[in-house]
Amino acid sequence: MENLNVLQPVAGAVLAASTQRSVGIVLVVLLALAGVALLWFNSRAARPELGAELELAPNRKPYYPDEDLEGRVLDRVLLLALILIALIAVGLPAYWLAEPGRQSGAEENYESDTGQFANQGAGLFAASAAGGLGCADCHGSAGQGGVRQHILLNPEGEFVAQVNWNAPAVNAATLRYDDDELRYILNYGRPGTPMAAWGAPGGGPLTTQQIDHLIRYLHTIERDPDEVKADVTAEVGRSLEAGEFESLGEAVFNYGRFSGADSGTYSCARCHTMGFSYGDPQAEGGGGTIGPPLRDGYTLRRFPAPQDHIDFVTEGSEQGAGYGVNGQGTGRMPGFGQMLTEDQIAAVVEYERGL
Ligand code: HEC
Ligand code: HEC
Repeated sequence: MENLNVLQPVAGAVLAASTQRSVGIVLVVLLALAGVALLWFNSRAARPELGAELELAPNRKPYYPDEDLEGRVLDRVLLLALILIALIAVGLPAYWLAEPGRQSGAEENYESDTGQFANQGAGLFAASAAGGLGCADCHGSAGQGGVRQHILLNPEGEFVAQVNWNAPAVNAATLRYDDDELRYILNYGRPGTPMAAWGAPGGGPLTTQQIDHLIRYLHTIERDPDEVKADVTAEVGRSLEAGEFESLGEAVFNYGRFSGADSGTYSCARCHTMGFSYGDPQAEGGGGTIGPPLRDGYTLRRFPAPQDHIDFVTEGSEQGAGYGVNGQGTGRMPGFGQMLTEDQIAAVVEYERGL
């Protein structure tokens, strides 16, 4: 499956290259046609012979007499010069006046959420069938999350199993990661999961600018935090009522485990419990996978004071910054403050501290 993962970006790059190629071919044809037309006009515009070469060579013609040259012709040229100077005198200041507006307009046009860059990001994000890179194939057409078949390999690269791996919703990715953290995820992917490295630093096909466009696009599909919280609260309530979990904390930790809601995006288990993302959790309550194990009093030693634990889950980690006792963040632990309510965070922290 690793191979399939890298094939997709390559297909996108080939597609982009072939678009440039078609544009190039059209340009060449147009230029060739223009060349033929030019030759044709040129041959028709040739001046008729003036007479015997002895009297007047064909490349010469009698010029104006002095009265005309220093009168009519001179006046005409001077008038033309005056008009041009007037045009420049009026035009340049007018251009200067309009230029700052034009520049900020262009910036707006490129940088805003509805601007060119975000549009290009949307084009890149689109399904591979629609000419995009295929982020939407896994993450859903509007970033609402999805499922993707994935082949698990052992460290020797041998087949273990084919699984359906949940791809998280990314329409709230900007609520849990800042731009640098997103850049890291897009550049390097998530080794061992269907999420490939897309950026050049991770060996992927995308340029820095394309990664920036994708990040900008993720901002344009950012959901309202209150709506996210309302949806999460509804699903957590439903799962508790259905008897899927015993406590609020357990329900939040394993969000979407049985219902597949939001592809499990708002769970903790998708990063802290191996196998959770493909319906085969190995150790209940965070045995560790992308994120460290949280069982067996791990979190009590890391955060002797519960409030520090709560603050960490609310804010997430920051690359290089310390947390708890001797913890150092990488920026990969998302902040949940804009997706979970304070009650839910307190409950999940209590659940973790009891594991
Ligand atoms: C083959 C399926 C697939 C494709 C294609 C794909 N992703 Fe992912 N992506 C995933 C999976 C699965 C994860 C979660 C991995 C894990 O379990 O940690 C993920 C994680 C992410 C995350 C982190 C979200 C989070 O909260 O953990 C972001 C952001 C993201 N992808 C954006 C993109 C973008 C942008 C593209 C297109 C350039 C893309 N993905 C293409 C499957 C895919
Ligand atoms: C997208 C993956 C991801 C998700 C989802 C996630 N975590 Fe984490 N978590 C991590 C990573 C990675 C670390 C390690 C710190 C780092 O790399 O910055 C971590 C660290 C932690 C730690 C500190 C553990 C230690 O001993 O250092 C706690 C506690 C924690 N997470 C709790 C949670 C809770 C609670 C949730 C759900 C509300 C959650 N995590 C969801 C990735 C994740």
